[in-house]
Amino acid sequence: MKAIIVHGGAGDAKKLNEISVRVQVVKEASLEGYGVLKDGGSATDAAVAAVKILEDNPLFDAGKGSYLNEEGEVEMDAAVMNGNNLSIGAIAGIHKVKNPVELARVVMEKSPHNFLIGRGAEEFGKQFGIEFAPLHYFFTERLIQIWEGRYGDTVGAIALDESGLITAAVSTGGTQNKHVGRVGDSPLVGSGFYANDSFGAVSTGIGEDIMKVVLSFRISLYFPTHSLEESVKKSIDDLTKVNGKAGVIALDKNGNFAYGYNTKGMFRAYIKDGMLVPEATY
Ligand code: GLY
Repeated sequence: MKAIIVHGGAGDAKKLNEISVRVQVVKEASLEGYGVLKDGGSATDAAVAAVKILEDNPLFDAGKGSYLNEEGEVEMDAAVMNGNNLSIGAIAGIHKVKNPVELARVVMEKSPHNFLIGRGAEEFGKQFGIEFAPLHYFFTERLIQIWEGRYGDTVGAIALDESGLITAAVSTGGTQNKHVGRVGDSPLVGSGFYANDSFGAVSTGIGEDIMKVVLSFRISLYFPTHSLEESVKKSIDDLTKVNGKAGVIALDKNGNFAYGYNTKGMFRAYIKDGMLVPEATY
């Protein structure tokens, strides 16, 4: 079974005219990842390819569209996790990398460490041909207009390939106007992402809230004694109990999708074998 689920952030999308465009881009990201799977690529190839589409689009808070911190700089975080061997690559506080999810992948695959930050992470990436972007690449028209409203739009994907590998990938610019050095849930295993040999999950929303309940890993407290859908629902209920606001997507080894959020909406798209086109909505 080949399957992929992608999200483009949970929150209150204030710019209503952007909603249909963002749904379309999330759909394209799921198709990109699914195309990789159909061509024989691994779940890691697929999840990273899907996240790159969203990082390259300035409508999402990751890569090119990353929010600026209080000093007007981007500080990006990303992670990738392989559900078969539980290997992890996470990065935080990245300023100049075009696709942070690719840097997270090389940390997972080429480094003896799980988590690298800032300059050390960027230096590590140089050895593996990671593409760097000039600072003006991140100063987009949307970013200049965005001060009118804040909404979480971290991006993420979980893919399942024919071999049964589940990979989770996540990327974010964090929260708007954040303190320099602030790191959210996204690069933290268990909070922003998790994958093992039975399911994968990626969270989105207010990182400070997500960490309180370790939202992505939390699903494993309920699964498999509950369905994936019920496990996601219970995890979001736990988040609500601590007044947290977020969403989560999940995918299990049988290709079942689940998602939940207690925000106004969450951009998401998913496709698997047997579906002609992705389901995509906010
Ligand atoms: N969920 C992304 C962040 O809070 O940084």
